[in-house]
Amino acid sequence: MLPPPFVRVTLVSDERLAIDMLRREIARHNYRYHVLDEPEIPDAEYDALFARLLELERRHPDWVTPDSPSQRVGAAPATEFTPARHRVPMLSLANATSEDELRDFDRRMRDLLAQSALAYVAEPKLDGLSVELVYEDGVLVRGSTRGDGITGEDVTANLRTVRTIPLRLDTDRPPALLEVRGEVYIEKSAFREVNEQREADGLPVFANPRNLAAGSLRQLDPRVTAARSLRMACYDVGDLDGLELGSQQELLATLPRLGLPVNPLYAVCQTADDVVAFYRRVQGERDDLPYETDGVVVKVDRFDLRRAAGTVSRSPRWAVAGKFPAERAVTRLRDIVVSVGRTGVLTPVAVLDPVRVRGVEITSATLHNEDDVQAKDLRIGDHVVVQRAGDVIPQVASALPELRAGDERVFVMPQTCPACGSTVVRLDGEAARRCLNTVCPARLKQSVWHFASKGALDVHGLGSQLIDQLVDRGLVSRLGDLFRLDRQTLAGLDRMGPTSAERLVRALEAARDVPLDRLLYGLGIPEVGASTAGLLARYAGTVERLAQASRDELLSLPTIGPHTAEAVVDYFQNEENRRTLEDLRSVGLRIAAVEAGTVAAGPLAGKRLVFTGTLSAMTRDEASARARGLGAKVVDAVSRKTDYVIAGAQPGGKAETARALGVPVLSEDEFWNLIGRPDA
Ligand code: IVH
Repeated sequence: MLPPPFVRVTLVSDERLAIDMLRREIARHNYRYHVLDEPEIPDAEYDALFARLLELERRHPDWVTPDSPSQRVGAAPATEFTPARHRVPMLSLANATSEDELRDFDRRMRDLLAQSALAYVAEPKLDGLSVELVYEDGVLVRGSTRGDGITGEDVTANLRTVRTIPLRLDTDRPPALLEVRGEVYIEKSAFREVNEQREADGLPVFANPRNLAAGSLRQLDPRVTAARSLRMACYDVGDLDGLELGSQQELLATLPRLGLPVNPLYAVCQTADDVVAFYRRVQGERDDLPYETDGVVVKVDRFDLRRAAGTVSRSPRWAVAGKFPAERAVTRLRDIVVSVGRTGVLTPVAVLDPVRVRGVEITSATLHNEDDVQAKDLRIGDHVVVQRAGDVIPQVASALPELRAGDERVFVMPQTCPACGSTVVRLDGEAARRCLNTVCPARLKQSVWHFASKGALDVHGLGSQLIDQLVDRGLVSRLGDLFRLDRQTLAGLDRMGPTSAERLVRALEAARDVPLDRLLYGLGIPEVGASTAGLLARYAGTVERLAQASRDELLSLPTIGPHTAEAVVDYFQNEENRRTLEDLRSVGLRIAAVEAGTVAAGPLAGKRLVFTGTLSAMTRDEASARARGLGAKVVDAVSRKTDYVIAGAQPGGKAETARALGVPVLSEDEFWNLIGRPDA
């Protein structure tokens, strides 16, 4: 037998080891998930690892280090950013605005460096914000923006929330110092989501992904940054100690081995033709790339040659940014019409004289809201600058007031809904006006379209022109009516025939079996996008259960904030919405319950529970379902592995067994305190 103190030391260092292992594991899975897009384990398992780490860190707060994955979020808002000086200046790049200028660059390099074989690395120029990360002994100690190249701002707390940035390098022998530079950016799809959400909330939208990335990084509250799906790609280094890199190719191969993300799309070019070919390739593919790019960056590969080439003013001679041609054009703003969205929001839309921007003809563009029209001082008849950013919807960037003839008209937002004529209201704190008529045909059309869309019931063959007819002819006045349509009626509609009618009826038939998450998404509950719908479905398991959930209960779920919680509660309290749901049930919609219990976070995640005795607030089965919804495992027998026994009135022997085994026994009240009271 070992003396007790020794046993204790062993135990402690075991937990220490466990913490270290968990952190490495989690960091590795983060990398696989967020950088490689190749997760190795299911989300629930990842959540369980995370929950274990949190538990151990709760027990040993002294061991919480800033590089722990648990420290990504949660830092308190800052009041201002402190300046951060770069040890090695962060340079900017000279531009080449045509293929000829790229060839000029190659000629300059060959003259200057007198090399018979000269290689370049060409990469897409990412359109975000450049930052520097400083790793000391493998730990991220500082992150800063480029600023003026000499001094930037310390945005460490925000950069820590970017999931593709490792808090610790993935190596046993980290270099003493590694300063790495790269671009923080947001993918186009995430950009669209953020803007759609902001539009729904009546907030001003971001003009382009770059502004969003920059705005998110320069947030004083890191929790806001954390919510914004930022990514990073590394492409350069500053000061190094303990790591030798001789070329860009070596850099791009080495950084990922340390867990640092790089953009896998690049080319090694031996000639000017190779460079131009890559420039054309990226230009051709840019709409299909997940991120925004406005050109390519061409760099001399070898670092010794870079040193020989040197720097002029703030730009290195050894690199150039080949920019793609402008994506803006001037056209005439013919009119401003107003469209009504699913939630009743009135959106002004610019009707434009057709104009081509980057190969795509633009005839209309959203103007977001009336404040936007006013801020840009757009008048009907103006010459305007339109722009396209990636696959992002075209925008009217500005008016050209100097070209006004004097007969341009100021736009006034209508006081009544253009579709149904009801009075519109501008709610407190919102930039948008809304039509509050729940049976407004314009809103209904949008709702039907959303309900049938890919992420929802995915009904093929239900396009917007058909929906217009169905609503305008009174064939569909609520969602359930879709399932009442028959072949004959459909076949008689414009642009329809027996075959397309048959196909649509079958598609609708197939859509009757719908998983809960898709239904919830399809209902168009404000604030509930596809991923929130998935979360709610996994939590509640059924529509009935979700309809009963309180605001506080929903707030206890990970990633659900007060806006969403209130929107969900409001939705189910609304009489019209209840009728829609009842109607959907009466036409035979079969809602497949989603297995509850896969939401892991919060106090019950991964816990084993036993219920005993009679509960007062609900039956034991209901309480068990709810606990499972919060990630708990509910079992019958008490053992040492049980985390809690919840004892209602007249508990049986299970509570005693628990006490004998040292398992905590919670009263019903204590249990509700832990997970939120059902009646709150
Ligand atoms: S290399 C001195 N590579 O472009 C060279 N820059 O105009 C260091 N950028 O401030 C930069 N993608 O923010 C490099 N693949 C890439 C890039 C890239 C975007 C940005 C970067 C820099 C700006 C220069």
